[in-house]
Amino acid sequence: MRLWGGRFEGTTDERVAEFTRSIDVDRVLALDDIAGSIAHVHGLGRAGLLAPDEVETLLRGLEGLRSEVEEGSLAWDPALEDVHMNLEVALRDRVGPIAGRLHTGRSRNDQVATDLRLWLRRTIDGLDEAVLEMERALVRLAQRDGDAIMPGSTHIQPAQPILLAHHLLAYVEMLERDRGRLADCRRRANVSPLGSGALAGAGYPLDREETAAELGFDGVTANSLDAVSDRDFVAEALAAFALAMVHLSRLAEEITWWSNPRFGFVRVADSFSTGSSMMPNKKNPDPAELVRGRAARVIGSLTGLLALLKGLPLGYQRDLQEDKPPLFEAAATLEASLAVMAGMVETLTVDGERMRAAAGEGYTTATAVADALVRRGVAFRAAHHVVGTLVAEAERTGVGLDALDDTTIAAALAVSDDSVALTILGDSTLPGELRAAAGLEGALAGCDVLGGTAPRRVAAALAAARARLGL
Ligand code: ARG
Repeated sequence: MRLWGGRFEGTTDERVAEFTRSIDVDRVLALDDIAGSIAHVHGLGRAGLLAPDEVETLLRGLEGLRSEVEEGSLAWDPALEDVHMNLEVALRDRVGPIAGRLHTGRSRNDQVATDLRLWLRRTIDGLDEAVLEMERALVRLAQRDGDAIMPGSTHIQPAQPILLAHHLLAYVEMLERDRGRLADCRRRANVSPLGSGALAGAGYPLDREETAAELGFDGVTANSLDAVSDRDFVAEALAAFALAMVHLSRLAEEITWWSNPRFGFVRVADSFSTGSSMMPNKKNPDPAELVRGRAARVIGSLTGLLALLKGLPLGYQRDLQEDKPPLFEAAATLEASLAVMAGMVETLTVDGERMRAAAGEGYTTATAVADALVRRGVAFRAAHHVVGTLVAEAERTGVGLDALDDTTIAAALAVSDDSVALTILGDSTLPGELRAAAGLEGALAGCDVLGGTAPRRVAAALAAARARLGL
């Protein structure tokens, strides 16, 4: 049975067979493996290493196998170690000993590297679509409820008011960068190792470029030793997956807080919540928590892969077989997390009034008041100090900045060392102007720069996102 058995006596110890086999994991590469084999057969035919009728026979056999894999009817034999051996033996069962010509000029080392690159390419294409869907979910929510005003925070303390749409669009930016990283990874991964052989290059004049083009690769790897040793593309993919998971995890974290009744900013739909086995009152945002938890696993996949590679000398080492479980698991986790978060976001109920009430707590418009003084010519540092004393006074008397009386405002300006502050303190229009700036709408409107939270800027950003996402 062992395709490499020529020099061996006796059978492989069952513990070794069990320990080394990978068929349960790598069978997901079957269609990629067959695609690679079909292209390789064409290449062998072009190089005159197979006669036209042999090409014909092998192709017919491989296409039959492809149908079996697609239908799920191919029986995987655990005794045959991995997907490559299984398919080669299944081909022999179909077409006879001529199957033994398929492996001409090919090693499992360049074969598995090819398969994995093909798998990653199509997986990234699927993930890209899933990231876009997640972006659409955020943009739809921003369209629906994005004009709610919420507290933006730093240090988890109230900082400045922002629009909910602004907050949601921040995640859209992160996800767009994730798409960029996936695309970068795909571009570097999309070269063909086929023809590299075991490590030194195939022993036949194969036209590697033509085979690569047939498989939709952008080119060929330039060094056969690198080609069989390299798993940079796996590390890059895992890094991109891990960062995307980190982004989802941050959103998940925010949703868990926002849905806490103390915040009450959002309600998670029942269909995206679970209950407690003991506490009848409980409604928990478990999907968000699990996204946060699974981000940890994907980070683990990345660090595990890097650890796997760091001590490997060049040339294929069997350690490399361990690249697949973390890669496959991480891709599946990211895909599922994107889908569940998209559903959760789209079904959130936003409580704009609770958000607005919270946005006004903690003197979040103080910066806007200082900005208003600066527009009157006061130095920013002096304005910061004046408004600081106003905040202290408002806190002492238990009012908002927009309710401070004229005398309090004049008194704060009077002790300033800024000459402009001293000249404007008698201006009767100033207190009203500062109180207006202290309102939420005034504060928002003031942040009128590209990328700022002023409603017209957010509206433009939302329109651009909608256009890009076809919404
Ligand atoms: N199952 C192996 C892997 O996933 C395929 C390559 C095996 N190559 C070898 N020389 N044993 O890495």
